[in-house]
Amino acid sequence: MTDPMLATLAAAAPGLRLLTDAADLEHYGRDWTRRWTPAPLAIALPGTIEELQEVMRWAHRHALAVVPSGGRTGLSGGAVAADGELVVSLERMNQPVAFDAVDRTLTVQAGMPLQAVQDAARSHGLLYPVDFAARGSCSIGGNIATNAGGIRVIRYGNTREWIAGLTVITATGERLELNRGLIKNSSGYDLRQLMIASEGTLGIIAEATLKLTDPPPPSQVMLLALPHMDALMQVFALFRGRLSLQAFEFFTDVALRHVLAHGAQRAIEGDHPFYVVTEYDAADEQAQDAALAAFEHGMEQGWISDGVIAQSDAQANALWRLREGITESLAPRRPYKNDVSVRVSAVPAFLHAMQALLGAEYPQFEVVWFGHIGDGNLHINVLAPPGMDDAMFIAQCEHVTRHLAATLQQFGGSISAEHGIGLVKRAYLESTRSAVEIALMRGVKQAFDPNGILNPGKLFVR
Ligand code: FAD
Ligand code: MLT
Ligand code: ZN
Repeated sequence: MTDPMLATLAAAAPGLRLLTDAADLEHYGRDWTRRWTPAPLAIALPGTIEELQEVMRWAHRHALAVVPSGGRTGLSGGAVAADGELVVSLERMNQPVAFDAVDRTLTVQAGMPLQAVQDAARSHGLLYPVDFAARGSCSIGGNIATNAGGIRVIRYGNTREWIAGLTVITATGERLELNRGLIKNSSGYDLRQLMIASEGTLGIIAEATLKLTDPPPPSQVMLLALPHMDALMQVFALFRGRLSLQAFEFFTDVALRHVLAHGAQRAIEGDHPFYVVTEYDAADEQAQDAALAAFEHGMEQGWISDGVIAQSDAQANALWRLREGITESLAPRRPYKNDVSVRVSAVPAFLHAMQALLGAEYPQFEVVWFGHIGDGNLHINVLAPPGMDDAMFIAQCEHVTRHLAATLQQFGGSISAEHGIGLVKRAYLESTRSAVEIALMRGVKQAFDPNGILNPGKLFVR
């Protein structure tokens, strides 16, 4: 280690891996946004909690900014290091720690990938139910730091529901054991909950104790084609009323075009403006008949134009790919992303307001809609025409986002449903949080991180 300051870090934590090669700085300095040029000072990869504590004590002594880093699949720039920060990657801390069959909890290191967590739960005959397409590369620490949602929120809620305890290392290197797996704990402020969705600005999550649940009954996956936008929530109300839903996700014909061009297989012929992938409990013939009856009723009402029920696991995966493959299919175009939510009851009116706004403001851009419509969460991805200057494209999208934020405010919605604020949405925090709330949030940040070294510039405009 030639840098004299970094040499003191290497000396303070002898087992620590430290990376400074240009390729590593680039790799660890960015997330899926690809909007900022990575420029971290170095990458620290602790292997133990003690090493992580040494890193934070050292960063505190040197007043050096730290960017906590998981799988860097984030879509809001939360894990971006573009300003000489020390990236602290949890990648080496990726193992299960303990399983408790009585408590039905699994304790894991924060760098464990979501899919590995799901597999570990399954190996004990139980379910960790948070799930989404980045499962193979995102980390449980990143999921907690963003309160990740995904495709099963309609049944199981967000990550927040599944956290029984957290081990957190503070900005000064102290170790906090928050909630310790307790179900009942009315002993004052719940700092565990404060950590969830804090985007690495209050502490570094080192370990998490996760609640597990029973695996769901056997299910069926159905793809539906819908003739118009209003049918989305009509079919949702119909299906939610008659079936036990595990997922209800939508996308448009524009999204379908991209995912098909990226290798997915068409499952319904013809042109249809909207599609839904839904999964529901179908353990017996009665449940399967109920699904068929709901489908037929939707057809009779003119809310459904066509549909297909998967007849095998492979077919179910192929239907899911039409929805789950959208993000990857758009990624080469570096879309400008909005990730917004309103109450489920407000979705129909909100969709109309969005259609009017986006139609008026983006006549020249391709706009891709999809998302977790059953949770009131809409993803709007805007694609630049080929060859358009990046800065000009972003400036135009920011202009529209200001209108979008104002509309959300009228609807009492959120500018970030599940991806976090990060760098991307910090200018719009006021559309979702009142001035008093933001002042209190800044006070919390000050209490946890008095020197402002934890992920500075994220969540709040500095
Ligand atoms: P990172 O991107 O590494 O970090 C995210 C934030 O968490 C940063 O602010 C970082 O500083 C902080 N952080 C990371 N680790 C820690 C830690 N140990 N302690 C403290 N802070 C930490 N998100 C959804 O919610 N739902 C979806 O359906 C969904 N689908 C996706 C599909 C694809 C294909 C992709 C690429 C992304 C998707 N995402 C989705 C977004 C992303 O995967 C989630 O935000 C995920 O939770 C990020 O985890 P990560 O480990 O990659 O975090
Ligand atoms: C999704 O629902 O697919 C994700 O949140 C990813 C995205 O918004 O691109
Ligand atoms: Zn999503």
